[in-house]
Amino acid sequence: MIDSPALMSDAKLLPDTGEPGFGIYVHWPFCAAKCPYCDFNSHVRHQPVDQERYVAAFLKEIATARQMSGPKTVTSVFLGGGTPSLMKPETVDAIMNGISRHWHVPDGIEITMEANPSSVEAERFRGYRAAGVNRVSLGVQALNDRDLKFLGRLHDVADALKAIRLARDIFPRMSFDMIYARPNQTVEEWESELKEAISYAVDHLSLYQLTIEEGTPFYGLHKAGKLIVPDGDQSAALYEATQEITEREGLPAYEVSNHARPGAESRHNLTYWRYGDYAGIGPGAHGRRLGRRTQRHRKPENFLAAIRRNGHGIVEEAMLSPREAADEALVMGLRLAEGIDAGAIADRFGVDAVDWDAVERLSASGHLKRAGTDIALTRRGRLLLDHILGEIAAVEMPIASAAR
Ligand SMILES: C[S@@+](CC[C@H](N)C(=O)[O-])C[C@H]1O[C@@H](n2cnc3c(N)ncnc32)[C@H](O)[C@@H]1O
Ligand code: SF4
Repeated sequence: MIDSPALMSDAKLLPDTGEPGFGIYVHWPFCAAKCPYCDFNSHVRHQPVDQERYVAAFLKEIATARQMSGPKTVTSVFLGGGTPSLMKPETVDAIMNGISRHWHVPDGIEITMEANPSSVEAERFRGYRAAGVNRVSLGVQALNDRDLKFLGRLHDVADALKAIRLARDIFPRMSFDMIYARPNQTVEEWESELKEAISYAVDHLSLYQLTIEEGTPFYGLHKAGKLIVPDGDQSAALYEATQEITEREGLPAYEVSNHARPGAESRHNLTYWRYGDYAGIGPGAHGRRLGRRTQRHRKPENFLAAIRRNGHGIVEEAMLSPREAADEALVMGLRLAEGIDAGAIADRFGVDAVDWDAVERLSASGHLKRAGTDIALTRRGRLLLDHILGEIAAVEMPIASAAR
């Protein structure tokens, strides 16, 4: 029985305050099958997963995370994976109740769940909605069956469209993910697929270029020369086409790979990139709070054992130096179209994140926009994000930036 009255209200989404906020990330680490490109912490189990055991472990971890964070107001919750839509609605409900028992969860905050089109059923979607989920992010990935097959997906286009329709009917907000820059994909093919995607989208889309991740089957094929991805020029042309079309259609990039109509940006994503604190719950989840970075056991069974031993799944905790924190805030913040306030970062951490001479140079060359201490990449600069980070960082950074 779903019983989250506090979360069931249809309160309007709270407006973005421009502040970093405090998010909760919950990781469900299981998938029905492993996609050959994916290096996320996801596991396939041939026996049914004992969800009650995981709920009990997650509730313990939530209680420990609350002790560590102190009283806080939550500004977003994100149920990610893996495939969270393999969770029973009761599992989601119990997790959401645990969160609202320990922190203040105002009506109208964003509560997102990732869902795979192959594991979507109307009844479960309604159950998630009743448990408080008010935004769904669907892993559509492609809108042609040949490429869905190549990506190893369990759904076809018809399943994806059904899931999109259902999500639009049941949730106030909906986004979906697409992967482009696939082998042999032409700009024309992608343009027409993207336009079709935009016609189904509501107000948010995540558009990722296919990346070849070490340790995945695609990596092996790529190394062996059997999987060839678009080269630099072709990727740039695909990226440019993506920016042009999404801007024209009113869904400009607010982050390197994320597009939204103004006001529909994912609050949870904004917390990451504005360098806000967030609690991580579940196997492999990361957290960040008060200058500390935490990382939990990735393997679900090791995570359960750690919860039994310690009441939390943390395997590694690092106190960041002011220098590391300022560098991270720069790396994250420059991904956003709104950019960073370098002055605020310097005040917050006591060290400069940027080399002002380099900022001047890159502003003059049209790669950066600058107003006082506010700095943002131009569209031209966004294509060269990694290079620009290397140029403007106040010191040489050990962190390889900008993954997806
Ligand atoms: C953690 S996955 C979870 C979503 C959900 N399990 C699904 O696959 O539908 C989040 C998104 O990352 C993107 N992604 C994962 N691996 C990628 C890769 N190697 N290159 C580009 N995008 C990737 C996909 O678009 C995926 O939807
Ligand atoms: S892309 Fe999604 S469904 Fe595929 S293995 Fe990764 S997390 Fe699982």
